[in-house]
Amino acid sequence: MSLALLVDGIGELVTNDPSLGEGPLGIVTKACLVAENGRVVFVGPADRAPPADKRIAAHGRCVLPGFVDSHTHLVFAGDRSEEFEARMLGRPYSAGGINSTVASTRAGSNAELSDVAARLVDEALRQGTTTLETKSGYGLTVDDEERSLRVAADVTDEVTFLGAHVVPTEYSGDPGAYVALVTGEMLERCAPLAKWCDVYCEEGAFDADEAREILAAGADKGLGLRVHANQLGYGPGARLAAETGATSADHVTYLDNKDIAALLDANVVATLIPAAEFSTRSRYADGRALADAGVSVALASGCNPGTSYTTSIPFTIALAVRECGLSVDEAIAAATSGGARALLRDDVGTLSPGKRADLVILDAPSRVHLAYRPGVDLVATVVRGGEVAFQSPARKDAGRG
Ligand code: NIG
Repeated sequence: MSLALLVDGIGELVTNDPSLGEGPLGIVTKACLVAENGRVVFVGPADRAPPADKRIAAHGRCVLPGFVDSHTHLVFAGDRSEEFEARMLGRPYSAGGINSTVASTRAGSNAELSDVAARLVDEALRQGTTTLETKSGYGLTVDDEERSLRVAADVTDEVTFLGAHVVPTEYSGDPGAYVALVTGEMLERCAPLAKWCDVYCEEGAFDADEAREILAAGADKGLGLRVHANQLGYGPGARLAAETGATSADHVTYLDNKDIAALLDANVVATLIPAAEFSTRSRYADGRALADAGVSVALASGCNPGTSYTTSIPFTIALAVRECGLSVDEAIAAATSGGARALLRDDVGTLSPGKRADLVILDAPSRVHLAYRPGVDLVATVVRGGEVAFQSPARKDAGRG
């Protein structure tokens, strides 16, 4: 049995439970929180808190649920900074760039892939991410997809099979044969290692018929479905996500009203990845239109070496507010409870009794600072499962009782 942890002196606590506090984020001021056995057991005023063995003094700072990053690609090798630099000078992004990371990943050892994934998970944790999803998709042979999923499973439970990321160059003359491989032997070997099946449905990747076939095969194996949809242009991805009962449609940068209606009707989470739009000089997804329509919105880093080489959810929140039209509170909800919905998780993304004690103490008096102070590392302390998982040496007042 673990010792109980008290976090007291919280200036502003975001619970995401409206029954506990003000507004949709359930904000409690002058709060304390107690965790035991990895779960939250109390939220409220200090004079009613149960006894605890350990204490973190928040000194009036803001505390919020650990971020839930529902879309990353952390299993890869190689560097594409030259491609980024060229894009900043005007060269457009195309899905075909994925194949350069495929070549480096195939050449990488298991240890090298594991080191990259572990380094990025640690980097994400230090910026407040306590739950993340990650994918295969840079192997694209049966063996390389399988080992990518094993590396992914070492860093998270939220593992996604993305054999259908792009058609690898050796199949460029016969994409149908590659779809047959993905839905056949590759899926057979990979499905037991994954929870989700994803497809990149886009010009230059997989068309609607191919994507539908791959998603159906994934569903037959019991995998939940996710779709990279409408990232580079208008197209069938979002509607396909709705038609196939996918949990999440990701990117959704180019949507028309019918796409939005389809996502809403089918209860598909729209996962925005504004850092990819930053890094590809793309237009941004219209988060405002999605939120106004009542679509459930999540925010993810999309971390990958091609279009979004960042693990930072605070950066993502700032972009979503500045560029996607979300309010600060909507962006914070999207990066916490929204991410949890995109992964069908009800144990994370909320700080109420019974939920996992995953939280972030910001060196700031208010959650607004996440967007108001872009590029500033405000994360002082990260608690995961009721234990301190990260303490910023630069912001160490939190934690000293
Ligand atoms: O989510 N869109 C597809 N996959 C990645 C890009 C991968 C790459 O260019 O390497 C994404 O943006």
